Amino acid sequence: MSDLASQRPTRIRVDLDALAENLRGIRRHTGKPVMGIVKANAYGHGLVPVARHLEAQGIDQLGVAFVEEGIALRRAGVRAPILVMGGVYGKQLQDFVTHDLEITVSSVDKLRLAEAAAEAAGRQAVVHLKIDTGMERVGVHSYSCQGLIDAAFASRGCVVKGVYSHLACADDPAHPMTAQQTARFAEACAHVERACARSGAPMPIRHLANSGGVLHFPDTWLDMVRPGIALYGALPDPASNDPIGLKPVLALTSRVVYFKVVRAGATVSYGATWTAGTDTRVITIPIGYGDGWPRALSSKGEVLVRGLRKPIVGRVCMDQFMVDLGPEGTAYNEDEVVLIGAQDGESIRVEAVAERAGTIPYEILTGLNERIPRGYVGG
Ligand SMILES: Cc1ncc(COP(=O)(O)O)c(C=O)c1O
Repeated sequence: MSDLASQRPTRIRVDLDALAENLRGIRRHTGKPVMGIVKANAYGHGLVPVARHLEAQGIDQLGVAFVEEGIALRRAGVRAPILVMGGVYGKQLQDFVTHDLEITVSSVDKLRLAEAAAEAAGRQAVVHLKIDTGMERVGVHSYSCQGLIDAAFASRGCVVKGVYSHLACADDPAHPMTAQQTARFAEACAHVERACARSGAPMPIRHLANSGGVLHFPDTWLDMVRPGIALYGALPDPASNDPIGLKPVLALTSRVVYFKVVRAGATVSYGATWTAGTDTRVITIPIGYGDGWPRALSSKGEVLVRGLRKPIVGRVCMDQFMVDLGPEGTAYNEDEVVLIGAQDGESIRVEAVAERAGTIPYEILTGLNERIPRGYVGG
């Protein structure tokens, strides 16, 4: 980070102790090894610092979406096992093997590509078989997975370390689809067990539970759990329960850069969509949708100023937005403004920001981009 960037009044603060506490809570709650999901810049928290801290906490495995995320971790010296969960392209497979990244194999074709890459590198490829139990994304259907399973266990180029599937509706503790997916996954695992018995290979790790599974569905915990958002202390859905007591890891703050009195009848920001009903005090905050602060919060979001909730008024601009303090409100230039986090006993959670923006916490967190400097505390 350049000196100038580090002077930017807008900052993300990542609490590594809260991250470690959430990991401990997930381990205590499930009693299972954990694959920490750090894709998408560790859900906006910073890929390398988060992965390093999880590794220091003895995380069993890391999961990313893309091979380049795995390579970035290896280049940063992260040694923990890393599974790349996204679909793979043939020409990338050499990089998987070279960087010791575990491959998601979702068809016999992809298995053959992995074998070829392993042979070219003179070593075995470590693979996890991906079973589709209802998500209809990447994965071989559970009802037709036997051919892939048999081929994988007959392969000399690949070692099958894991078998997994992804839950589509576990965010909602009452959704019936999770039980259906769990049953389908159990059928696929029965094929795997038979293939292991025939080949003498050890049973691979079965993993199914994302954060929703961790929070709501013990039957999905199996041999390893695979949480993302829960590690960062956010709930996947407003309907989710939190039996763990997760702690928010990320805070987003800025500072007042301008203060003015807006006269009754004047409009604020682009499109003149908000009109002051009385003379009122309005502050400008230097962060906008160019940083990933959603434009959907225009005249909808709230921030904390001097420990009080104050509304965002008018459209969020690319680099700035305005807040109405009210006719009697006070704030000075350079006062702290909290967008996500706590101030003087009040707090705004990312779940609330997401709800007001009409989206999910995942999108808010992963949207906060590299323009915002990140600082790390704890650890
Ligand atoms: C395959 C897979 N596993 C686990 C996760 C983690 O999900 P969550 O953040 O809901 O825990 C994701 C994220 O979308 C995923 O794609």
